[in-house]
Amino acid sequence: MTKKELRQKAKELRDSINTESVIQLSDIIQNRVCNHPWFEHSETVFVYVSTGNEVRTSGIIEKAITMDKRVCVPRVIPRVKMEAVPITNVENDLQMGFFNIMEPKPHLLPIGEGDIDLVIVPGLLFDRNGFRIGYGGGYYDKYLAQLSDKCRTIGIAFESQIVNELPVEDHDMNVMAIITENRVIISKEKRY
Ligand SMILES: Nc1ncnc2c1ncn2[C@@H]1O[C@H](COP(=O)(O)OP(=O)(O)OP(=O)(O)O)[C@@H](O)[C@H]1O
Ligand SMILES: [Mg+2]
Repeated sequence: MTKKELRQKAKELRDSINTESVIQLSDIIQNRVCNHPWFEHSETVFVYVSTGNEVRTSGIIEKAITMDKRVCVPRVIPRVKMEAVPITNVENDLQMGFFNIMEPKPHLLPIGEGDIDLVIVPGLLFDRNGFRIGYGGGYYDKYLAQLSDKCRTIGIAFESQIVNELPVEDHDMNVMAIITENRVIISKEKRY
């Protein structure tokens, strides 16, 4: 199957999960992330703001704010790039952006990729080496390619989104680990 076909199928499958399961499994995944040493040891975290049937992230964001970490969320500049923007309050600092995703308000300024210690990466599908299929914009591929050497990356996904092997193109970046409701998968192939 092509990436486009995989993306379409994965989207349909994920959108068929009932809301109760999304909430329940997301709680497990978020707790596993918050108890992971890469999270505990990070000062600056970059976490996507979940929408629809994505693994929810509000628990991770709230926990990181409570722990006095610098918490950044994505701002997408369509067709150009994605930025990491620090927020301190979910209620005040976010507004509805493109594609029905909450984004940081325009007056909030981004920080550089080199300042991030941990990125929580979304995906429609992940394989055992941390390669992924996203929404097809290439935003995460571009972003992950610019991180500092000390930065860690964790993909979060439901177990139903894990496959053996995905097609990989030259520009595709993998994550270092994937956390699902059942396990932590450490990537063996190192491209990050
Ligand atoms: N580092 C890069 N520099 C320039 N263009 C890139 C880069 N990475 C990806 N792209 C562009 O983005 C397009 C979409 O990439 P891909 O199909 O891998 O999407 P994706 O991984 O699902 O998206 P995302 O990273 O937003 O989740 C590619 O066809 C490519 O043209
Ligand atoms: Mg890609």
